[in-house]
Amino acid sequence: MNDPVPDKPERRPRYRGTHPRQFGEKYKEHQPDRYAEDVARVLASGRTPAGTHRPIMVAEILAGLAPKPGQLVIDCTLGYGGHAKEILAAIQPGGRLLGLDVDPLELPKTEKRLRESISAQESLIVRRSNFAGLSRVALEVFPEGADLILADLGLSSMQLDDPQRGFTFKLDAPLDMRMNPQHGQSAAALLTKITEAKLAALLKENADEPRAIRLSRAILQVQQRTPIETTRELADVVRDALSQTDCAEDEAILSVRRVFQALRIAVNDELGALDSLLNQIPHCLRPGGRVAILTFHSGEDRRVKQAFKAGLAAGVYTSVTDTVIRATPEEQHSNPRSAPAKLRFAVR
Ligand SMILES: C[S@@+](CC[C@H](N)C(=O)[O-])C[C@H]1O[C@@H](n2cnc3c(N)ncnc32)[C@H](O)[C@@H]1O
Repeated sequence: MNDPVPDKPERRPRYRGTHPRQFGEKYKEHQPDRYAEDVARVLASGRTPAGTHRPIMVAEILAGLAPKPGQLVIDCTLGYGGHAKEILAAIQPGGRLLGLDVDPLELPKTEKRLRESISAQESLIVRRSNFAGLSRVALEVFPEGADLILADLGLSSMQLDDPQRGFTFKLDAPLDMRMNPQHGQSAAALLTKITEAKLAALLKENADEPRAIRLSRAILQVQQRTPIETTRELADVVRDALSQTDCAEDEAILSVRRVFQALRIAVNDELGALDSLLNQIPHCLRPGGRVAILTFHSGEDRRVKQAFKAGLAAGVYTSVTDTVIRATPEEQHSNPRSAPAKLRFAVR
């Protein structure tokens, strides 16, 4: 019998110039096992290697949740699996972790990576699910309730950095922004239907944009002439609108960032999902069980703070953190994406 023909080695992507610049071209960062030194250099420069995510406030989360062998844990936002990997190690032997994520593109890659790193395969259960429906999936897998619940809100770096997903204004891409691209409407579709007043309210509520009225008017005036379909078109509309004011260039970029954040939150109904999650957490925790929630903007933190406070007053929680916990200056320096993070805990 002939030997099987060996697989051809995969060609690295072609790119212009001396260094890969686009997400898909960064072939070394996409293969951390083969190019560990190059990946370490990217990390040392304060950047996140393409296709990965650096878990935020891991030590603080582990200290507050205090995972123990045999415990049942729900990670509502599995992402790259950075927190889950640490928690899985701490709950062995005998513990089990249910990991949820709404993203059908990243979740299978994360599950594969996590499974390769653990020996007790039954300790990891993965479901593609929105945490807005937490109690259904949680009580099916852990009818006795969980000991620990973690939610690390927002986007992973893989989603943010992948230009095809349309979350970043730094590269041109279809204006999509759905964490689950198989469900719901894209940001471009939302702009075809929304009124000026509603858009201004979104910019204010979801991103504290100070020029919400001016920007919503400018965006919808352009939208009526030519539909805005790409990230660059939207960023240009915002920049053009602000170039006619005394707004400095840095401020204009912050506004572009806030417009993107506000639309992303609306497209994915992130605040509605958070409200549902906060209502359901107590029903999914055993007495004495702990929850940690990591938020990234004021609209999210306000909701968590109020839900925990109301839960304490109603006797649903026995204790809650009274002050918010922030990333250390060292972590904020080495991973700027940790700078806005706020962490709160509650105990049932
Ligand atoms: C910041 S990342 C989590 C990173 C993760 N803790 C880690 O260490 O890799 C947030 C993740 O939550 C997911 N997500 C956001 N909203 C969700 C929701 N409503 N239901 C389920 N997953 C959600 C996103 O798809 C993303 O993968």
